[in-house]
Amino acid sequence: MQVVFFTFLLVAVGANALPQQYFENGYSTREERIVTGNIRKAIEQLVESIKEAGLDPLEVDKFEFEASIVPEFVTVKTYIDSLEFTGLSNIAINRLDYGPLTNRLRFDISLPLLSFSVGDAGVKANVIGTGVTGQLSGSLRITQIRLTGEIRVNISIISGISLRSVDANFRIQRIESNLAMKFQDEDYSEQVNTILNETIPQILEVYKDEIDKNLSDLIKEVGNQLLGKSVMTGDQVLIA
Ligand SMILES: *[C@@H]1O[C@H](CO)[C@@H](O)[C@H](O)[C@H]1NC(C)=O
Ligand SMILES: *[C@@H]1O[C@H](CO)[C@@H](O)[C@H](O)[C@H]1NC(C)=O
Ligand SMILES: *[C@@H]1O[C@H](CO)[C@@H](O)[C@H](O)[C@H]1NC(C)=O
Repeated sequence: MQVVFFTFLLVAVGANALPQQYFENGYSTREERIVTGNIRKAIEQLVESIKEAGLDPLEVDKFEFEASIVPEFVTVKTYIDSLEFTGLSNIAINRLDYGPLTNRLRFDISLPLLSFSVGDAGVKANVIGTGVTGQLSGSLRITQIRLTGEIRVNISIISGISLRSVDANFRIQRIESNLAMKFQDEDYSEQVNTILNETIPQILEVYKDEIDKNLSDLIKEVGNQLLGKSVMTGDQVLIA
């Protein structure tokens, strides 16, 4: 999930970003450059690995697969025509600054546009005489998946670095679904599009305080675990 992914990224980066020198030469703009520079570098690396993994752009011109898992009992036939998914590596850093005096990291990171489309895809299976069919085509666009917020850091010679507070906000600006979906020859397009276009944004809106709170707690907890480990090994935290 995007949320978890971003959380992990930020925390991983945050843990990695506070160098040993922090303890030695007090507060300067150099600290800010080191902290934000490391975060930027980690995001760049992430962007590269997404591209290298073939996830952006992800293009499938034609794909077919057919198998008899247990012949005469379970057979599966599936195909994909013209699938395209783009935008995952387009990570925009809208804001990133660290105040050495306040020990406060402020961030605003987003995926401007995730775009998915498929010409035609389907599955036909036969499970002990019962047919299962599904079909999907159309497009899906998600605009501005965004994570913003503020992390306050505690620094102490004795207990090391810890996250004092995390205040994160997760938002999705818009989901536009134009999918056609069939299952067992029933058309579910309307339901699927309504869920994606309307229901999910509504849920995100209604529960936004709770989601933000839970997300912030999660970032804090995972971050402090990672930082705890880094103190114990006396080294930088190694991630990915
Ligand atoms: C951070 O430091 C403050 C003041 O020194 C202290 O009250 C607080 O408990 C610390 N928080 C964490 C999470 O270590
Ligand atoms: C979903 O959004 C798309 C794009 O805005 C629109 O074309 C479509 O009619 C909407 N469908 C439903 C069921 O809300
Ligand atoms: C937030 O966390 C609480 C307690 O862990 C949980 O019961 C609740 O379902 C979570 N809410 C959301 C929106 O994830």
